[in-house]
Amino acid sequence: MPENATGGPARRRLYGRKQGHRLRPARRALLADMLERVRIVLPEAGALDPAALFPTPPREVWLEIGFGSGEHMAELAAAHPDVGFIGCEPFVNGVSAALGEIARRGLANVRILDDDARLLLERLPDGALERVYLLFPDPWPKKRHHRRRFLDAANLRLIARLLRPGGLLQVATDHMECGRWMLANALREPALEWLAERAADWKARPAGEPATRYEGKALGRGSPCHYFRFRRRQVA
Ligand SMILES: C[S@@+](CC[C@H](N)C(=O)[O-])C[C@H]1O[C@@H](n2cnc3c(N)ncnc32)[C@H](O)[C@@H]1O
Repeated sequence: MPENATGGPARRRLYGRKQGHRLRPARRALLADMLERVRIVLPEAGALDPAALFPTPPREVWLEIGFGSGEHMAELAAAHPDVGFIGCEPFVNGVSAALGEIARRGLANVRILDDDARLLLERLPDGALERVYLLFPDPWPKKRHHRRRFLDAANLRLIARLLRPGGLLQVATDHMECGRWMLANALREPALEWLAERAADWKARPAGEPATRYEGKALGRGSPCHYFRFRRRQVA
């Protein structure tokens, strides 16, 4: 796969794997063919118009950060053909799996940044997104690694700015401590409002939301999962 979305060396350090097991030849061919058609190439300077990424202007644009193998994104994209989906995932094998899903379902409304989501967040205009998903982000359980966690105050500020007023940020985790950390950070972000009214609101996956692969594994080994939904306030 070519270097990264900006065509140059990555500007920031991204933690974790970029490639796991070697891809099968059929997967490699799919990557080469399909990725070029759906890949987001970030402009050298200036903002990226997300609506212009799609063949017809979408009703709304939804973003998934760290889509893993892409099953959640693909299922939502199939259910909402009038919504434009942007997925960010630097893990090559995950991108390859997502491309397989996009091809299998014939989806025309998904675009992919095969790189660090922060590169994209910095290039989107204010209010460009209706929904942002961050599902089972790497929890980085060791204290000395906490600074690698994605949902820190700066990224929350950025996400809040990119959400249209009334838009949603959806977060899920099976890691209690990381969940508390993300929730505490989000509660300190004045432009976001936590939507939970009762325990069931954060103990059960929101209605209409497909499961993710990671979530399936967590539930399979008996780890409870937590789901946090935040709404972008009208006034920041
Ligand atoms: C624990 S996995 C969860 C994957 C998927 N959301 C799921 O629930 O099955 C976390 C994913 O986030 C991706 N990730 C980590 N840092 C990222 C970043 N800065 N931008 C985009 N994706 C990132 C990782 O490559 C990994 O695939």
